[in-house]
Amino acid sequence: AIDISKLRAESGLITIDPGYKNTGSTQSAITFLDGEKGVLRYRGYPIEQLAEKSSFLEVVYLLIYGEAPNRQEIQQFQDKINHHTLIHEDMKKFFDGYPSKSHPMGQLAALVCSLSTFYPESLEPDMNEEEVDQTIIKLLAKMPTIVSWIYKKSMGHPYMYPKNKLDYVSNFLYTTFGHRTEEYEIDPVVVNAMNKLLILHADHEQNCSTSTVRIVGSSNSNLFASVSAGIAALWGPLHGGANQAVIEMLEVIRKDGGDVDKWVEKAKSKTDSFRLMGFGHRVYKNFDPRAKIIKKACDDILDKLGIDDPVLDIAKRLEKAALEDSYFVDRKLYPNVDFYSGIIYRALGFPTEMFTVLFALGRLPGWIAQWKEMRENKEPIGRPRQVYVGSGARDFKEISE
Ligand code: ACO
Repeated sequence: AIDISKLRAESGLITIDPGYKNTGSTQSAITFLDGEKGVLRYRGYPIEQLAEKSSFLEVVYLLIYGEAPNRQEIQQFQDKINHHTLIHEDMKKFFDGYPSKSHPMGQLAALVCSLSTFYPESLEPDMNEEEVDQTIIKLLAKMPTIVSWIYKKSMGHPYMYPKNKLDYVSNFLYTTFGHRTEEYEIDPVVVNAMNKLLILHADHEQNCSTSTVRIVGSSNSNLFASVSAGIAALWGPLHGGANQAVIEMLEVIRKDGGDVDKWVEKAKSKTDSFRLMGFGHRVYKNFDPRAKIIKKACDDILDKLGIDDPVLDIAKRLEKAALEDSYFVDRKLYPNVDFYSGIIYRALGFPTEMFTVLFALGRLPGWIAQWKEMRENKEPIGRPRQVYVGSGARDFKEISE
């Protein structure tokens, strides 16, 4: 076998692969993805079965610990998490300090990183398995509370404290939509929809944010800092930020009269930077299996909640027009997970700016599982090379000259 490291050291061999389109950065046992066939499995289980039959917390356990939990294991896991759902009271001051219109993703990245300052034991690179697990549990427990409080802050409403007799997803909905002044009835349709959405976002192998988590973690950075970096990567509209961008785009199309063909033409133009948000994927060159599930769930949920959203009609017509156009067919551009998710989030009552934060909440177990795997594999620090194309050697003159 060729020893690439040796060859590189001796010959200066460097491979250039912008965007890492063909570069594998690791071996992983977490998520299997076949982009040509549109297959996605977590730890071997097809995404369709998990979305249909499991809860989000079961998927969290599965991704992080490698096996699906039994009843006792999931109960113990839930109990451990419930113990840590409060966030330090001093963290309230951070929320108070942000301008009320600041973007939730900017707040989330900062708040998750700030957890490291409250739990300095998490900075220790040589934590044993139990200590690592404690850090993981804390992050899983506190992130929903942080997300809920970001929402409360944006509304100017008082923060709600978690009610730990509730399950993971219901507790999140309670702290988000509950009020101190009246009883909050948790609608099983909403709980079910939220579980499904979070499951579909839970992991997606070495995407931009997950690779970021692994590369930051590879320098022995703590879990909170590594996940915070992942949140920053997810924010971009070419990645998780697309779910917000999709709804904004559909709204613009609706207000413009709803002529979807005009917008398909615009997306094809090479002189116009406009792209159809929620279309195309680096790996899927076939239907994104998550998009198929979400599209169906979208119809069901809006129907059950009795919501008639005109944007859903625009989305369906836009999808049809694009899939009948040779530009999109030839480039194998299909709707991705973000195309329909925003319509569901909106139906559940979330404002558009919260969508990417909800994606982050779903992706959290994937980031944690990948960080843990990177650590257990004792992977070396991530450090890509480059091919230098700048100036040759030249003499520096003092500024007076
Ligand atoms: N609308 C119009 N044209 C598109 C689109 C789109 N949404 N996506 C790709 N294309 C075109 C490109 O212009 C390019 O055309 P060309 O070959 O004539 O130059 C071709 O399809 C290939 O596109 P690339 O940008 O090279 O593909 P890449 O794999 O680098 O990008 C990406 C993938 C970023 C997802 C891209 O499809 C895109 O920008 N989509 C819109 C944003 C989006 O929905 N992002 C969410 C992705 S899913 C997720 O992160 C959760």
